[in-house]
Parts: sequence; C-alpha cells; structure tokens
Amino acid sequence: MLCRQYGAQWTVQGLVSAEGLSRGGSKSERLLRFFPQERPIFAQLFGASPFAMAAAAQQVEAMGFDGLDLNCGCPEKKVLRVGAGAALMADSHVAKTVVGAVRRSVKLVLTMKIRLGWENQRTFLQFGRMAEDLGLDAIILHPRTVAQGFSGQADWDAVGQLKQAVGIPVVASGDVRDGESYRQLINRTGCDGVLIGRSALRHPWVFDESLASAQGEDFQPPALPEVVLRYLALLEETEVEADCLPLARLHLLSFLHDLPRAAALRAKVGACHRWNTLKDLMETQFSQLEAEH
Ligand SMILES: Cc1cc2nc3c(=O)[nH]c(=O)nc-3n(C[C@H](O)[C@H](O)[C@H](O)COP(=O)(O)O)c2cc1C
Repeated sequence: MLCRQYGAQWTVQGLVSAEGLSRGGSKSERLLRFFPQERPIFAQLFGASPFAMAAAAQQVEAMGFDGLDLNCGCPEKKVLRVGAGAALMADSHVAKTVVGAVRRSVKLVLTMKIRLGWENQRTFLQFGRMAEDLGLDAIILHPRTVAQGFSGQADWDAVGQLKQAVGIPVVASGDVRDGESYRQLINRTGCDGVLIGRSALRHPWVFDESLASAQGEDFQPPALPEVVLRYLALLEETEVEADCLPLARLHLLSFLHDLPRAAALRAKVGACHRWNTLKDLMETQFSQLEAEH
C-alpha cells in the first residue's frame, strides 16, 4: 500500500504454495489476504503439479485478484525440493504442462516469472516463446541464473533479447536502485514494465522517482518522518498492527537504514515487543525530527 501511494502501478504478493492452497491450508489463505488499496494486485503461486496449480489458480481467481504470476525463478530450498520455482527452469516439459494447465483453468491475467536459466544453460528465450505460445499475458524476467541467486549483476542485455524474441509484454526485474537506473533499463532494453524489489524496501518512493526520471523531471524524495508515519498509519487503518509486529520492525529498520547516527534508534526498534511501544518510539523520534527541519 505504501508503494502504491508512492507511485507503484501494480503490486505482486510473495509466493504461495499451490499444494498448500489447493489442500485448503489456512496459512496459504492467510498469506493471500489483500486490501483494496493494494490493487491492481497479483498473486504468485509456486508448484510443480498441474492439478494443484490449476486448482489453486481457480481459488486465486475467486478471491478477486487482478492477475496471477507463476513462479519459475525462486531458488529457495523449500521450493526447489518440490520441483517448483526455479527447478522448472531445468525442465521445460514440466513447466509447459503446469503453465498450460493453469492457462486453461482461469481467465485471469496470467504471467510467469523466470530467470536466465538453471546454470550456464540459458533457456529464457525458450521459456519466453513458450509463455507466448501458451497464451500468457506477459513474461517477467529476473536476468540472473538460478545458480547466481542474487549475486553478480542482472544481465539487462538479456531483457533486450527477450523483448526482441517475443510479441507479449516483457517485464524486467533486477537491480533498479533509483530513477536513473530505471531510465537506463527502459532505454537499453525497450521493456514494457519494471518490477522493483529490494530498493523499494528502503526507498518505497522509488516508483515515483522512476516515473519522474523517465519523464526527465526532477524528483524530491519524501522526508523520512513522512514515510515512517504513513507506514504506521496504514498498519493501523487496516488493523493489522498487532499481527504484523515482527514484519513492521523489519520494514522500519529498512526505512532507517540510511539515517546517519541512528544505531541506538535501530537497536531500540529491534527491542520493541509491543505495538504501542514501537509506535510511541517512532512518533517521538519523528515528530522531533520533523520539528528540527
Ligand atoms: C526479500 C525478498 C523476497 C522476494 N520474494 C519473491 C517472491 O516471493 N517471488 C518472486 O518471484 N521473487 C521474489 N523476490 C525476487 C524479486 O522479485 C526480484 O526479482 C529480485 O529481488 C531482483 O530485483 P531487485 O534487484 O529489484 O530486488 C524476492 C526478493 C527479495 C529480496
């Protein structure tokens, strides 16, 4: 919601197990909860069974999501262990069966998110063409191999190659840090959209900054107190503050990452185990900071 307020055009939830969801798992259902202010919002599923993926996709459609992304890029052990996520990059036959089954079972806007390939074997062009042939609405590429994880640099030239190879929209994901890198990625690859991950955690305004940069406009980032207080207000408005305390602490620590001489404050945030203590701490700190400016 904070990213939407700061210019994100759409949002994607974290990945959810298709097996868990189709078996009626309450954890999976809880993970899929969303608020209207996040829309347009995509769910993302992982799985290697065409039956479970198709059934889970139908549930996602019934929940009112605006789109569904199929994960073919996650390198986490718990995902690879079930042959899903990035493991699908090593088996295009299974990937095709899974994606085809989902496409036939829902009318939702459907995308898939891939990597360059498993190791040195770069299969992304083959996967892009497959996505197009199967009738997907777009393809999202995080241009690193599975073996790379998050190391090294994202290979933006591969995004350009994919754009040349397919007729469906290509969305790029990787290493956009600010408005300038966003502008360079768009110009260099001609991609149709960009997904921003890590930098949004520290700078949720990176979306407005990116849009301004693409238009050649100056951008003034919001002041930190504004970001923090908006975030706290959103948690309270949606009444999730008590359930989300550990995650709220993590997000606040990300926002505070660039603040100089704030080690003591960060330690205090880490030590807050009640919502009211955390809120009081932030409000006291940031109303002071606002007053100083
Ligand atoms: C904490 C974290 C969680 C992520 N979760 C997902 C996920 O659930 N599904 C997914 O497709 N990618 C996930 N990613 C990968 C990002 O979507 C993105 O492709 C990658 O971080 C590269 O983009 P960036 O340089 O903008 O972060 C995650 C990344 C991070 C750092």
